[in-house]
Amino acid sequence: MVKTVLVTGGAGFIGSHTCVELLESNISVICVDDLSNSKQSVVDRIKSITGKELSFHKLNVCDETQLDRIFEMYDIDAVIHFAGYKAVGQSVEKPLMYYQNNLNSTITLLKCMAKHNVNRIVFSSSATVYGVPKVVPMNETADTWCTNPYGWTKYMSEQIIKDWCVATPNASAILLRYFNPIGAHFSGLIGEDPNGIPNNLLPYICQVAAGKLEYLRVFGDDYDTADGTGVRDYIHVVDLAKGHLKALEYIDANKGCQCVNLGTGKGYSVLDVVKAYQTACGIDIPYRIYPRRSGDIATSYADPKKAYELLGWKAERDLNDMCASAYNWQKMNPNGYGD
Ligand code: UD1
Repeated sequence: MVKTVLVTGGAGFIGSHTCVELLESNISVICVDDLSNSKQSVVDRIKSITGKELSFHKLNVCDETQLDRIFEMYDIDAVIHFAGYKAVGQSVEKPLMYYQNNLNSTITLLKCMAKHNVNRIVFSSSATVYGVPKVVPMNETADTWCTNPYGWTKYMSEQIIKDWCVATPNASAILLRYFNPIGAHFSGLIGEDPNGIPNNLLPYICQVAAGKLEYLRVFGDDYDTADGTGVRDYIHVVDLAKGHLKALEYIDANKGCQCVNLGTGKGYSVLDVVKAYQTACGIDIPYRIYPRRSGDIATSYADPKKAYELLGWKAERDLNDMCASAYNWQKMNPNGYGD
């Protein structure tokens, strides 16, 4: 049974929600994070949501000496690996920074795991590995190809973990390919806190709702979709976090490496999201149509069947919950974590 889990990047958006779910399932959590894109106060908020303790260590997973010490200190049963840079545009400008950090962290982590006989890992991958899909919904056998360095770091980390799994007796790994995670914990204590002006749709809408940004720029209304705007599979971050627990249960009982989509299987357009947000929150979201954003695709949504069949997981929260919880987080934390 998995009793103690090392969570890398546990102070981030998805990591923090996963720490909450782990603690609520009575799993001990060792959280490591270099706080390069997150705040120390997240840890206290996780504790106040759950009423439980977790161990936090500020470190970068590429630092083998420090990471090794963590494996010395605790009796770790499994690892959930979130730590990594994640801004697509920045990865195009600074590819070496992305490859160096995101690949070194995966390799260093696997080396430390091997040294300490830890052979179970859940990896935070992305539907971005499907590149431009030939067909939707996408299942796990769809072709993989990436369109930016961030995506390639996910693709390459997946490959590194697959190869490690083959070479390591009794190893088990799940590579979770997330679609578009949004929303926040219902407590309003943890949520997404992007640096500067948000790139992603829902954080941007939240800042329009808060009056910080004047209007939403809708990137393209001439795609081959029902209303011409881009279609995505938005998934509530709490559903996503729960998927990691199911993945842990699976790797505890099974060997080998599997990739699994985490999505709802439903696609919503940008304008669907705007309408849902207005309805859920009672706030008008002004928008203007802009040209397409370079690198965007028309439509992406998951075939989530494998997650259900293999892990017994499916998304339960709808777009209304996603918008309402994101708005609640924004209202309760106008400046995010703020420090
Ligand atoms: C983006 C990343 C993807 C990453 C994911 C994390 C790109 C090209 N892809 O996905 O690799 O895994 O975030 O959640 O950045 N939109 C607007 N106006 C905005 C922002 C977005 O119209 O201000 C539209 C986009 O054109 C798209 C949809 O909203 O159709 C969703 O965009 P976004 O939230 O940025 O996610 P993705 O581009 O799907």
